[in-house]
Formats: sequence, C-alpha cells, structure tokens
Amino acid sequence: MTALYELSGLSADLPLPGDLLTALLPMRKPRLNVLQDITLTLRKGETFGLVGESGSGKTTLARVMLGLAPASMGERRFQGEPLSAPGAMARLRRGTAMMFQDPVASLSPRMRVGEAITEPFAIHREGLPDRRAMAIELLARVGLPPAIAARYPHELSGGQARRVCTARALALNPALVIADEPTAGLDVSIQGEILNLMSDLKDERGVGFLIISHNLSVIRHTAERIAILYLGRLVETGPTAEVFAQPFHPYTASLIASEPNPDPRRRRADLAIRGEIPSLLRRPKGCEFHTRCPLAAPQCRTLAPTLREVAPGRSLRCHLAGP
Ligand SMILES: Nc1ncnc2c1ncn2[C@@H]1O[C@H](COP(=O)(O)OP(=O)(O)OP(=O)(O)O)[C@@H](O)[C@H]1O
Ligand code: SF4
Ligand SMILES: [Mg+2]
Repeated sequence: MTALYELSGLSADLPLPGDLLTALLPMRKPRLNVLQDITLTLRKGETFGLVGESGSGKTTLARVMLGLAPASMGERRFQGEPLSAPGAMARLRRGTAMMFQDPVASLSPRMRVGEAITEPFAIHREGLPDRRAMAIELLARVGLPPAIAARYPHELSGGQARRVCTARALALNPALVIADEPTAGLDVSIQGEILNLMSDLKDERGVGFLIISHNLSVIRHTAERIAILYLGRLVETGPTAEVFAQPFHPYTASLIASEPNPDPRRRRADLAIRGEIPSLLRRPKGCEFHTRCPLAAPQCRTLAPTLREVAPGRSLRCHLAGP
C-alpha cells in the first residue's frame, strides 16, 4: 500500500465571531473545536468517501488537508512528507486540487472559463506555451466543447460548472483531488455523468479522489473505502462494500437505514436516526453519539470510546458494537 495522504491525531479549531473586546485581545478569541483526533490514510490512486451530516466538519477537514486552514494538533503527511518540512506546503498545493462545494461561487465571475481553467499554471508559475490550446484540451478531457472557453461562469448550467471545476482541478495533473459534494444541486442523470467522469479520470490518470458527501448513494457507488464523521470525529472506517453490508457503528447503521429505499422490506424503522445533532459548543460527555444512540448503555454517558481496529481494515469508535 502506498500512502498518498496520512493524517494522525489531527484536530482543528475555527475562530468564532466575537465582540469588539475579543477582537482587540487575541488571547480572548473564542474558538470552536470542529475536528478531533482524526487518524486516516488515503492511498495512492484510490477513491475514498467521507460521509457525515451537515456541520460534521467535512469541508473543514478538506480545507485543513489542503493547507487552507490550520490544524491545532496532529500531523499531516502528503506523499510521505510532513507538511511542517521546508517547502512541503508548496509541494502540497502543487500536487492537490479542490473541487469546491459551490462550483459557480468558486470561479471568478469576471474570468472567462478558458482563463479560469488555465489559471493554475499562472499561480504555480508553470510555463504554458499555448494557453488557448491547453484550455481546449482540458475542456475536452471533461467532455465540454471548445466554445465553452469563451463563457463566463453565470452562463454555465450546473453540470457544465461542475465539469469546468473538474477541468481546473486537473490542470496540473494532481495526485489528489478533493471533491466536496460533487453532485450537489444536479439532476440525477447529470450526477451520474459527473461521477462517471471522475471514475474515468481516476482509471486513466491515477488521480486519488477524496469524495465528500452527505449523500450515501454517491459514496456507495464511487468510493473503495469510506469514513464516517460525527461531530468532527471519525466513528467508523472500512472498505465501502463491507461497511454497507455490515455497518458496525449505530450511527453508520442509522445513516444506511435512512437511505431512501424503494423496497419496504429493507427499511429499518428501528435503526432510524433520532434527535437533533448536538452543538459543537456543547459536545456531549462520554461517547458523543450517546444522545442519539439506540444502544447507549450507562458507561457511554461517561466514558469516551477510542477508534480501534476491530477487523482487518475496519475501525470503529464504540464500546459495545463490533463484529
Ligand atoms: N469560518 C468558520 N468559523 C466558525 N465556524 C465555522 C466556520 N466554518 C464552519 N464553521 C462551523 O464548523 C462546523 C463544521 O463546518 P463544515 O462546513 O466543515 O461542515 P460540513 O460537514 O462541511 O457541513 P455541510 O454538509 O453543511 O457542508 C459547523 O458547525 C460550522 O458552523
Ligand atoms: S459507545 Fe455507546 S453510545 Fe456510543 S455509539 Fe457505542 S453504544 Fe452508542
Ligand atoms: Mg461542507
């Protein structure tokens, strides 16, 4: 196994908006602890799925991995090199790309598509003899005609905007692309097209993808391995097919049970998720899922479980569940 990106014991805090006094006194700035103790390895050329409800920290994790937001603790290694090494951050930026959650907003409104998708060459000061020819080649790679190069972002359909962002992400042949909700806001048929495009690019160019989504069927059909995030902590990881066939964590089981399923025999009312997601400002004591867990026992309210390997390639954060 060749590691592409390794995270170990990673935590991240984000600043909370404060009053005038806190703005003037840096030491008083309140911070929200969004990610806690994330340990994870992405492999070269694989598609990895990250799942979690809204607010669970998926986008924050992507930003921290790409060096767009700081980590408060833990280590990040890209292609074996710690990000703290001299020059490592520049190599990370050169070797990775992000497909943002809102594709139109991630493109500059006054920049034509052709210019936007070749901008990474300018940012990284890579020589580019013929920018127009490169724009057309990148567009062809994502199945778009050359005429799209002359358009502005607001002139694109949702599917075209996603493809344009994919073209831009691929410009410098990255080793890792993080795709944040790549199918959000798209019709089901276009969703399939975008996922097939990503899968072809993975096969042709060996690009590793981290696909972030709260849509389980997107992850089920694209990712080889999967991780489930709850309140900024990983609660389960493993090969996708195995996790879907036999989810260990009660949260994973309830997410899978609440997937829309046309077959009434496969709907499991007993596993359906209940209750509200707790606020990150008031993380529950003990196991942070105990307020919603159908299996919660007295020890779960006081003792925090750790993420442990429970079967080859599968890890779980729970006192009671497991193989
Ligand atoms: N810049 C910020 N400052 C303070 N808090 C933030 C900031 N950005 C996000 N948060 C908070 O951090 C938590 C995690 O946010 P994040 O955007 O990572 O979640 P997400 O899993 O990507 O959610 P979604 O599925 O809605 O995109 C949320 O509670 C959010 O309110
Ligand atoms: S540790 Fe307890 S509360 Fe947490 S998921 Fe497991 S059974 Fe549920
Ligand atoms: Mg997000």
